[in-house]
Amino acid sequence: MKTRIGILTSGGDCPGLNAVLRGVVLAGEKLGWEVIGFRDGFEGLLPPGDYVVLDRKSTEGIMALGGTIIGTTNRGHFIAKVGAGDRAVVASEVIARARKVLDELHAKALVIVGGDGSMTTAMQMQEAGINCIGVPKTIDNDIEATAMTFGFDSAVAEVMDALDRLHTTATSHKRVMVVEVMGRHAGWIALHGGIAGGADIILIPEIPFDYDKIAQAIKRRESAGRLGSLVVVAEGARAKDGQQIKRDIEGGEFRLGGIGDVVAREIAERTGKETRACVLGHLQRGGPPTTLDRILGTRFGVKAVQLANEGHFGSMVSYQNYQVRHVPIADAVNRLRLVPPHGEMVQTARDVDISFGD
Ligand code: F6P
Repeated sequence: MKTRIGILTSGGDCPGLNAVLRGVVLAGEKLGWEVIGFRDGFEGLLPPGDYVVLDRKSTEGIMALGGTIIGTTNRGHFIAKVGAGDRAVVASEVIARARKVLDELHAKALVIVGGDGSMTTAMQMQEAGINCIGVPKTIDNDIEATAMTFGFDSAVAEVMDALDRLHTTATSHKRVMVVEVMGRHAGWIALHGGIAGGADIILIPEIPFDYDKIAQAIKRRESAGRLGSLVVVAEGARAKDGQQIKRDIEGGEFRLGGIGDVVAREIAERTGKETRACVLGHLQRGGPPTTLDRILGTRFGVKAVQLANEGHFGSMVSYQNYQVRHVPIADAVNRLRLVPPHGEMVQTARDVDISFGD
């Protein structure tokens, strides 16, 4: 009988997931392995098991597609994260049922492609005796223990494209255009997207802002004859004396969003300028992956198979110094990788005249 491994994609979808699936399938086939893909994240592990055999044919041409061909969810029975830094315990009975399904399928290991919440679940499954390998994924780029996740570059490219387009309205109408981007508690997407798209003001959770300082920056631009301005605001950003804006609570975790409208209103009041807000939302998670994400996803998938072959269970693929390596999954959970407020990227932005509203 062929050696079998299972794979699932969990949490929010992001560009590059299919590149990982293809990488795992092709590298697995080289070892004579069979790969089974569980549908809709961890939920596919529940008895009787909802899965599909993935092979060369079923993964042909998928690298260029966004999303994941086996589905995903950031809700359900296996949720282990209920907020920034907060951890929930997945019921041991649920893990036992998943284990039974994997045993019956004779799966030697389970590759879990997901963000920090999914890695928290992966760690609990490993502790319960399931051989797990983690592959870090998220557009937010906030997973500790890896210098980069796939999906981030595609999200940043989307922000850059949106800013390129919004420049026209900002300059033609001499308006302030505010763009709200994702990233949860981390400002990476706003910072990288803002720099690449030529933003004038970037507001991130790591640097609480002051509305008066934002207004001053816009007025300074006006006096210099620059009548249109672009503001990028991360969904998790907040004013020095304010709170993050939360939309609703789902599956135990808050969904952020709404700060863009608030920032636009405050700017209009303080500057008298016509101001419009635009929320990029899930556009940042969709569409074909960039070159970088296709390559990173492929490398991560191939590495996951190598780790399973070498018996490095309980470890997560990690990108460090341009090399794909591995670290214990435990190193990646419950610690968010945030933008260093005094780091090189923030300083670079300041040096090209970008204000952080501080
Ligand atoms: O973690 C990825 C992410 O897109 C965050 O940037 C965002 O806050 C969240 O997921 C949105 O989640 P949902 O798809 O459940 O609305």
